Amino acid sequence: MDEVTSSTPFKRLPVAIIGTGSYVPERRLTNADLEKMVETSNEWIVERTGIRERRIAAPDEFTSHMGTKAALNALENAGVSPEEIDLIIVATITPNTFTPSTACYIQDALKAKNAIAFDISAACSGFMYAMKTAVQYIGTGQVTTALIIAAEKLSTVVNWEDRSTCVLFGDGSGAAVLRRAMNDDDGAILATDIGTDGSLHDLLRIPGGGSACPITPENAHERLATLAMRGNETFRHAVTHMKKSAETVIRRAGLSADDIALIIPHQANLRIINAVAQRLGIPEEKVFVNLQKYGNTSAAACAIALDEAHRTGRFKKGDNIIIVTFGAGLTWAAAAIRW
Ligand code: COA
Repeated sequence: MDEVTSSTPFKRLPVAIIGTGSYVPERRLTNADLEKMVETSNEWIVERTGIRERRIAAPDEFTSHMGTKAALNALENAGVSPEEIDLIIVATITPNTFTPSTACYIQDALKAKNAIAFDISAACSGFMYAMKTAVQYIGTGQVTTALIIAAEKLSTVVNWEDRSTCVLFGDGSGAAVLRRAMNDDDGAILATDIGTDGSLHDLLRIPGGGSACPITPENAHERLATLAMRGNETFRHAVTHMKKSAETVIRRAGLSADDIALIIPHQANLRIINAVAQRLGIPEEKVFVNLQKYGNTSAAACAIALDEAHRTGRFKKGDNIIIVTFGAGLTWAAAAIRW
């Protein structure tokens, strides 16, 4: 008998995105507001990042609440009821609690009693890690309908006295419903790519609050349970990996850059987005950007962007789109999707 290896061909079932949704909290924190909190300026933030304002969740508004709102929005868009969901995956680095998972709270809120539910932690790449995982479940015939959600309350893990990070992040959520499709031509996720380089875990992290460094009365003043980042190095890796991952899915899907109607990159920094698009040879008008309104909402960023691009008609049935992300870990991921 022939040996089975990782290159043994496997015919996966096609998987399509049949609905999208998103939610952002009401409260806006503008660059002018931040000028009153730390030594910064609207000019610096806009020039270095492109961000003008971000949303901040209310104290009693948790990650699961935001995730549930985006999920309901996506289910309505897809015309799918909560009972039809087989699988819920929530991507977040700001869970309601360490345990149970935020996916459990959302499953309960949705009354999606037939769904298995779990969280994924892959920072800003989380939504695409969730998409890849759902594609594996559906593509191998294990489940029919999956709900993937990315929700973040980053305002709870930002050090509001650190100007190098606090200007970058915001709160929000996005979701998508995935279902087994008829074939790739009628709309399907054509190709996916995910990658990890754990040797660079120091570049962007929340050092405290976990088992390695619990928060104690003695270290509480050090704010170790907040985001710490080496911005410059992170920037360089983001450009390299997003370009490579996008190229990989374009190639795997049998497409060229000219076939792409829209690219939806992770919304961290406008300069990163422009550098990636330029290296891929994709013109500005085919690049979706909304970070000026929300800042970097980590896993939720490309999920919110996908929903906004969908609802505002930035792509139509039959178009090829690319989503590409990058985040702490390091992690990166991309998908080529025929809508
Ligand atoms: N306002 C004013 N000045 C600021 C500032 C702020 N909010 N934040 C940093 N500065 C200062 C720095 O102190 C530094 O001053 P110095 O030269 O006197 O030391 C100067 O601006 C330049 O800092 P630097 O970090 O080199 O700026 P940069 O051009 O690299 O931009 C980031 C900083 C964070 C915007 C940029 O590195 C970045 O976006 N990196 C990637 C971040 C990211 O995407 N993270 C998420 C990945 S998912």
